[in-house]
Order: sequence, then structure tokens, then C-alpha cells
Amino acid sequence: MGYREIYEGWKADPEGFWMQAAEAIDWDRAPTRAFTDDGTGHGTGEWFADGLVNTCWNAVDRHVEAGRGGQVALIHDSPVTGVIQKITYAELRNRVARLAGALRAQGIGKGDRVIIYMPMVPQAIEAMLACGRLGAIHSVVFGGFASHELAVRIDDARPKAIIAASCGIEPGRIVPYKPLLDGALAQARHAPDFCVMLQRDEHPADPAPGRDLDWYEFQHEAAPAECVPVEGNHPAYILYTSGTTGQPKGVVRHTGGHLVALNWSMKNHYGVDPGEVFWAASDVGWVVGHSYIAYAPLIHGNTSVVFEGKPVGTPDPGTFWRVISQHNVRSFFTAPTAFRAIKREDPKGEYKAKYDLSCLRALYLAGERADPDTVNWAADLLGVPVIDHWWQTETGWPIAGNPLGIEALPVKVGSPSVPMPGYDVRILDEAGHEVPDGTLGAIAIRLPLPPGTLPTLWNAEDRFRRAYLDHFPGHYETGDAGMKDTDGYLWIMARTDDVINVAGHRLSTGAMEEVLANHPDVAECAVIGVADELKGQLPMGFLCLTKGVNRPEEEIVAECVKMVRDEIGPVAAFRLAVVVDRLPKTRSGKILRATMVKVADGEEVKVPATIDDPAILDEIRAALSRIGYPKAG
Ligand code: COA
Ligand code: AMP
Repeated sequence: MGYREIYEGWKADPEGFWMQAAEAIDWDRAPTRAFTDDGTGHGTGEWFADGLVNTCWNAVDRHVEAGRGGQVALIHDSPVTGVIQKITYAELRNRVARLAGALRAQGIGKGDRVIIYMPMVPQAIEAMLACGRLGAIHSVVFGGFASHELAVRIDDARPKAIIAASCGIEPGRIVPYKPLLDGALAQARHAPDFCVMLQRDEHPADPAPGRDLDWYEFQHEAAPAECVPVEGNHPAYILYTSGTTGQPKGVVRHTGGHLVALNWSMKNHYGVDPGEVFWAASDVGWVVGHSYIAYAPLIHGNTSVVFEGKPVGTPDPGTFWRVISQHNVRSFFTAPTAFRAIKREDPKGEYKAKYDLSCLRALYLAGERADPDTVNWAADLLGVPVIDHWWQTETGWPIAGNPLGIEALPVKVGSPSVPMPGYDVRILDEAGHEVPDGTLGAIAIRLPLPPGTLPTLWNAEDRFRRAYLDHFPGHYETGDAGMKDTDGYLWIMARTDDVINVAGHRLSTGAMEEVLANHPDVAECAVIGVADELKGQLPMGFLCLTKGVNRPEEEIVAECVKMVRDEIGPVAAFRLAVVVDRLPKTRSGKILRATMVKVADGEEVKVPATIDDPAILDEIRAALSRIGYPKAG
């Protein structure tokens, strides 16, 4: 069957489609139905709610039981430490069972939250799986976030335990995690019962007495724990993502739908068979890392590469090719920005010639818009299909893509192709009416969303409804704008909110504004995302100073840059800021951020009819020219 037949088949019988997909999962008690409507009349509900199942069993144990214990489950390839370690499914089962046993002995059980703050080491995935084994709910926090962001997540998730490593390793510098953890716990109102610390040789930490248990010691005498079956609608994890304010959204993932959808996507979308090697070069702190480093490859019985390095500088722009060739990677997934970084250092792709990449069947790009230059460069270099696909933390798996495992559809460069079964994508105008093909609009998904997508936000059902469901009744609002063409291909153009995308990392300009507003000399501010050749977008701050402040602009800007780095983290990449007298606003006082973006990007600006004082745009232009914006070309 081809894509169209499968998609139409799903549309005609979603219940049958997903019940069939669910047969690939080992249930302790099979679900009697796929979707249960919650009766609110919105089209929302839960998937596989009356099934009983365990994530870790499906990701690990069942492969061992099926005689595949000797297959490599995880390859830790760490150019920053010089380590390559392979862990078989049987070893992974033993490691995870023991870790789960140790956590259970400390009182962790079903429904308890556990925060994981670790770099790209296999222990991060073991910790996630150990939580799943016990029915505990993990929340992984990206290592590039600083104390404040960690504290906000601690207070929202209220974890019973935090599992951390002593350090992360960035090219050229070690990032000690313990001071960040200490800082977060000093700020947070909630205190976990205990922490577990994985000591890394590169920078061991002094454990906090009475708080920190040693990763190895606390497991020493632990009895292995068995898998605890949980309901299909039991939360597997919470993953915080940026919204429009400084309070991140805690995306909840339910267990049953997560297993079914991820397993389905591995063959049908990513085109890999069990036993093959799959590599997503992302980080476990992001949704790509959750879905396609940790869970989907393991659930589907693949080998997953856990890569601790960067596309360039670890040690050179040939690293990706080395990993693909050395580990026989079949499908490779990364963000376009990684390819832009490689292209910048090795424009002719000369490093590739050193490696045999005949194992590679396809390259998958997501996380930000895949610009045609990058897609074409990658396709020419690698000679395999380059598949752009579109999804979000909220959905957990692709909304749209090119389902190579079903049928390779023609690639249209600049489009992430077509909706996956489960997603009924509509392009709507402001009033919620569908617009004709080829017309720009808000991208929405007709409810219900498929299995594996968010059922709610942690502790914030009202916010969930306000943020995603209220604007277009009967639909999920993606926050992206774009269009559908006459072949049914989607084109994703821009966010409709204050979320920006920096090197494939989703960040909130609102959160940065909240930090800047705390600077004693800043009376008012705005942060926008400006175009950047390497990272796609970069945040840029506009600062209006308190009356009477008469200090050098550079000093204030430097303090603001430091504040954002200290509060949000280096990953925000906040370095650009200018002092201005006033911000352009509408007569009702709304800051005209979209207009500011156009000015900073050097695009043609249509002065909005609602602007309070058009002269402010010239002041903005003058301020921007002091920091070299708009960029030439
Ligand atoms: N822990 C601590 N610090 C981190 C970190 C982590 N896990 N990840 C990033 N940082 C720091 C970096 O060291 C850098 O700090 P600096 O300001 O001191 O240089 C800062 O955060 C910005 O990092 P990054 O966005 O990685 O930029 P970069 O300039 O170091 O590298 C790229 C640029 C393009 C090579 C890099 O962004 C990249 O590999 N991107 C791929 C994106 C990706 O995988 N996205 C996931 C979604 S699929
Ligand atoms: P995240 O939740 O971090 O995965 O970010 C999701 C957002 O990244 C989406 O809402 C889009 O704005 C953007 N995004 C992800 N993939 C793509 C893509 N293939 N094309 C365009 N934008 C994308």
C-alpha cells in the first residue's frame, strides 16, 4: 500500500488503524479500545487508557526475551572524552533493572517525579528507562540550561529525586553541573528527598552530605526491579518547553500512545528495520532526544547512537561522517543548523571523502526550517534522500514528513512533505475558516490528536486549553503559520507567537524579556529573533533605560548578556542588545515586534497603520546600525 491509501485508510477508520499499530507492543493487559473521548465536547481524550503496559519492558526486556540480548542497544560515541562504548540489550536490561531497584529502595515508585540533569552519556538513558520500569515520571532538563531554569522545573514537577552527572563537556570547556544544581536547589521552593550523582572522571564533584548518593555506590547492593505495569494513560514523562512566558510548559506524555506511535514511526517514517543502527544527533534534553535517541529506536529493537560531541570542532567537520561509517548508521537525523556549521567549515565537503558512507540510506532534518541551500548541499554531498520533517515537543513524533518506509514521495525542497496518519492538518484564517490551497494561514490539527501527542500540560490543564485549543475550537493550534499546496504538501513558514528557534533550540523571547526587565537600569525591553546564517535565528534585545541612568551603553549591555546567560543558560546564545529611547508600539501600547524583526533583517517594512509614532522606526534603525545590523547580503 502506498502513502495515500494508508493515510485515507487511517482517516476512514482511525480506531482500527491504531488498534492494529498497537499489536506491535507487548501489553500486560491489551487495551479494549484505542481512543476514549473525554466527553468535554472538544474532541480531546486519551489513547489506550484501559491497557496495562510498561515502557521499559517494551524498550529493553522484550528484546532480550526474544533472543536479541546480544544485540547492541546503545553506542556511546564521545569524541569529547575519547570513549566509544557499546551496551547490549542484555547489559542494558541488567543495568536498568539494578538502577530501578536502587531507586525503589530509596522510595521511588509509580507516579513519583524524578528530574534527570545529565549530558549525553548512556546513564541518562538508563535513568529514563529506570523511571519507566517503576512507573515513575521523569523530567529531563537540558544541560545547557542554568540554575534558574532548573529551579523553575523543580518547583513545577516537584521531584522526589534528582539524578545528575558531575559535569558536561563542551568543546574546550567543562561545565560543572553540581554548582548549577546547588544554585537551583537554593532558589527552588521544593526540595527533593535525595539526589544521585554520576561522578565523571573529567570533573568529579564533592557530594552534598545527606543529599547526594553516589550513582555506583547506591546501586551496589540493590536488588534488580521488575517492570511495573501501568495504565496506558499513565504519564511516562514531563518535558518542559518554551512558551510565551518565562514559565515553561510541562508537556505530558502518556505511556500507551507514546509506545504505539513511536514504534509505528520507526519503520514507516524513518524506514529502519529492527537490528539496524539509527542515529539522532541531538540531546536527551530535547524532544528529539527523548523520542529518537532514547525511546523509539529501543522500542523498535534498533541500535541507537548516543553522540557526545558537536558537528564541528570535535575534532573536525568530518565527525558525523566518521560516526555514520564506523557504526554502520542507516538513518541519520539532525537539525539543519548542524549542516550549516559543517558547510561553513568544509564548504566542499572534503572530509566526507575519508569515509565510506554506503551504509546510509537517508538523512532526516527537523527542529527548524530546512532552508533549500542546506538541503541541496546535503543532498549533493551525501547522495541520499534528504527528508525534511516537521514536528514539535508537543507532538513527540512527526506531524508531517516523507514516509520512506511506506513509499518515497517526491521531495519538494523547502517543504516537510505530507501529514502522517493521525494528523488531519488544516490551514485556517483568523476566524478559523479553512483557506484555499496555496494561501498562508495558521496551521492547526483537527482533534483528536493522534497517540503519543500531549494530552495536557503538567499541573496546567487550563493553560493547555488556552494555549492550544481555545483559539480554533475543535483544533489544536500548532503555533506555526504556513500553507498547503495542491499536492497536499505542507510549507512551514514562521511561528505565530514569541517563540524563536536558535540552532534548532526552541527558546522564549518572553522569558528573556523577564530576565532583562530585572536589570536595575532597564525600564522596558523587547527581545526579538533576528535571522542568522548559522543558527537560523539569534535573540536580540532592545533596552530602554530608566530615566537619569547615564552609564556607558556597553556596560549595561554586557551586564544584560551575563544575566541571560546566568539565568537561562548559555544555550540562549543571547549576545546582541542595543539601548534605545523608545520601543515602537501600537496606539494601544502593543510592542510591534514583527516590524522590529523586519527592520533588523533589512526587509522591506510596511509601516503598520496602528503605529503610535512612525519616527521610532528610524531610531531603531540608527540603534541597529551601531551593532552592524541589518547584516549585508
Ligand atoms: N551543556 C552546557 N552548555 C551547552 C550545552 C550543554 N548541553 N549545549 C550547548 N551549550 C552551550 C555551548 O557551549 C555554547 O556556549 P558558549 O556561548 O560558551 O559558546 C552555547 O550553549 C550555545 O550552544 P550551541 O547552540 O550548541 O552553539 P555553538 O555555537 O556551540 O554550536 C552548532 C553551533 C550549530 C554547532 C550547534 O548549535 C549544533 O550542533 N546544533 C545542532 C542542534 C541540535 O542538535 N538541535 C537539537 C534539535 S534536533
Ligand atoms: P520543538 O518543540 O523544540 O521541537 O520546536 C518545534 C518548532 O520548531 C515548530 O513549532 C516549528 O516552529 C519548528 N520546526 C520544527 N521542525 C520544523 C521543520 N521541519 N520546518 C520548519 N519548522 C520546524
